[in-house]
Amino acid sequence: MSDTSNDTYPENELSIESRAIRTGHSRTHELEHSEPMFLTSSFTFASAEEAAARFAGEIPGNIYGRFTNPTVRNFEQRLASMEETDCCVATASGMSAILSVCMGLLKSGDHILSSSSVFGTTTVMFEKYLAKFGIETTFVDLTSTDAWKSAIQKNTKLLFLETPSNPLTRVANLTELADLAHNNNAVLVVDNCFCTPILQQPVKFGADVIIHSATKYLDGQGRILGGAICGNNAIVGEEIYGVLRNCGPIMSPFNAWVALKGLETLSIRMKAHCESATKLAAVLDDNSAIEKVYHLSLKNHPEYELAQKQQSNVGGIVSFEVKGGKQKAWDLVNSTRMLSITANLGDAKTTITHPASTTHGRLSQEQRDQAGISDSLLRISVGLENVDDIIRDIQRGL
Ligand SMILES: Cc1ncc(COP(=O)(O)O)c(C=O)c1O
Repeated sequence: MSDTSNDTYPENELSIESRAIRTGHSRTHELEHSEPMFLTSSFTFASAEEAAARFAGEIPGNIYGRFTNPTVRNFEQRLASMEETDCCVATASGMSAILSVCMGLLKSGDHILSSSSVFGTTTVMFEKYLAKFGIETTFVDLTSTDAWKSAIQKNTKLLFLETPSNPLTRVANLTELADLAHNNNAVLVVDNCFCTPILQQPVKFGADVIIHSATKYLDGQGRILGGAICGNNAIVGEEIYGVLRNCGPIMSPFNAWVALKGLETLSIRMKAHCESATKLAAVLDDNSAIEKVYHLSLKNHPEYELAQKQQSNVGGIVSFEVKGGKQKAWDLVNSTRMLSITANLGDAKTTITHPASTTHGRLSQEQRDQAGISDSLLRISVGLENVDDIIRDIQRGL
């Protein structure tokens, strides 16, 4: 077990907020308080005999930065503890996390059953790149368990979804989909980017593999790209770790250190994101220039009840459709003075995005229709500025 504050406090007695700050730091002989950054590509051996023994796996220890790094391990152990999984492996980005899961668990001839409401690049990866290697994907409505059931095939090996989805915050029934996956010898992979383990721990509902884009809330200040995969030792610790070690899409120690320090403030940040997003959603819902608002604090959200069971809070992403189509949506984007016009989310800075022309711009019109991404849709990732300033900046364009 990793060191905690005074190296004796049993980790399993700590709450998630404390583990996010304490887990995973094995102090060096310097007795540093803050976690050190190990910027080294390889590690040394005392002798030729020790080198051979470490390479053969006869004695533990670091060998080479593509295999292990103490700072990366610190981040991995902390996130695994927060997701309540056996282990975690860190990757270069969220997309490389998804790719590594697919490379580790699938082969030519296998089938992916995916929600149609996933990040646009994930759809492109499945449809364009994995298809080249004989892995086919069928896309289904995230919220209809019946649709998932009827699309499952004998060769379906992986069910993939985001809940809440990007950008419409629709919610899947995790327990039902985990049962479906397991009854068909498949694994349920959940992209937990919008909630983070602070709001939702998908393994508690039966999910097998949890994906993160650490680029988002885990870092929380828009500084790095990173990803992570959490799950059990057999799937993540062996099958997927093997992909990282041999194919190389690993997280750098510098990025791991930034994300690791980001985890320390994650719980208070998520609380503030949720609170401000709830206030913004209520204001937007009341505005006659807006057609529809998507946020889990609103009782008219179709999965309001389900989210209350699966999540401890409503999340910081608010999406809405403006009346008047694409030009009105773009006018609103252009009228903001404080909000950042950028595609990232989960930042301390509030961001505004037009998904149809950016994050989901490479999808066909049919795919966007299937995912519910209209030209009048805007996504706000509510940051940590004073919420009244955020509201005023959006209201000006309405
Ligand atoms: C839900 C979701 N998953 C995965 C990704 C990909 O993450 P990254 O940009 O770190 O590769 C994103 C990026 O926006 C995302 O929003």
